[in-house]
Amino acid sequence: RIVYVNGAFVPEAEATVSVFDRGFLFADGVYEVTSVLSGKLLDFDGHARRLERSLAELDMPMPMTQDALLEVHRRLVAENGIEDGLVYLQVTRGAADRDFAYPPKDTPQTVVLFTQSKPGLADNPAAQTGLKIVTLPDLRWDRRDIKTVQLLYPSMGKMAAKAQGADDAWMVEDGVVTEGTSNNAYIVKDGTIVTRHLGNEILHGITRAAVLRFAQEAQMKVEERAFSVEEAQDADEAFVTSASAFVMPVVEIDGAALGNGTPGPIAKRLREIYLDESR
Ligand code: PDD
Repeated sequence: RIVYVNGAFVPEAEATVSVFDRGFLFADGVYEVTSVLSGKLLDFDGHARRLERSLAELDMPMPMTQDALLEVHRRLVAENGIEDGLVYLQVTRGAADRDFAYPPKDTPQTVVLFTQSKPGLADNPAAQTGLKIVTLPDLRWDRRDIKTVQLLYPSMGKMAAKAQGADDAWMVEDGVVTEGTSNNAYIVKDGTIVTRHLGNEILHGITRAAVLRFAQEAQMKVEERAFSVEEAQDADEAFVTSASAFVMPVVEIDGAALGNGTPGPIAKRLREIYLDESR
């Protein structure tokens, strides 16, 4: 696999990052995941804009123009022959002697991109069966709108879910669901789609924005507001969205089956629309 590191396209075995990198020492970096279907990047502009915003919130500039970034994405997809898969991008504040204070502004940022091939990404069998979700307290920091590489708690949440025989976890704060470990969360009741409003408490999903737009175009009712676990367990159906899962139905929350325990019609319809529009 060819990867990109600080201006160079090199075989992955030759790619190196300093042990003093602030991404490694302080999780002082941000990332994006853009999916690829049939060789085509999905929603690149949305991901690039969110990257710029995440960086700005942490007082970092864009390391290159959006056009240059798109070229790096395209070249990696082409050189690695990616049909279906992902492009991962990470930008950190760079390498500097370990100090809580930021290094001088002229410290070169670290920029790394790599691809992951996922043949049949759009035909994930989980979309047919649906996900089982457990809930956990949301113990992350308060700026979840910034896509930092600080992912240990979501990673622990995923492991806790698996240990309970579930697929993933939704995180709960002040009695209401924030989002999934690596996706945005939705419920559907009497035909109305409910998903948490935007704010610092959740990541502003690029897939979320697209799916809500498609839902509105299809005359579905959408409410952007918080919902409780009890309300979710009483819903007709539920689903999650992310760049890598697209729209993925949820069939169980903390042991309670939703509807008849199979993926609901609105989740299935939105998945179809999303994939149709993306290809
Ligand atoms: N995760 N919420 C969280 C906490 C996420 O980590 C993600 C994405 C999303 C969905 O955002 P988007 O639709 O822009 O992918 C919501 C990526 C896929 C990841 O960490 O791999």
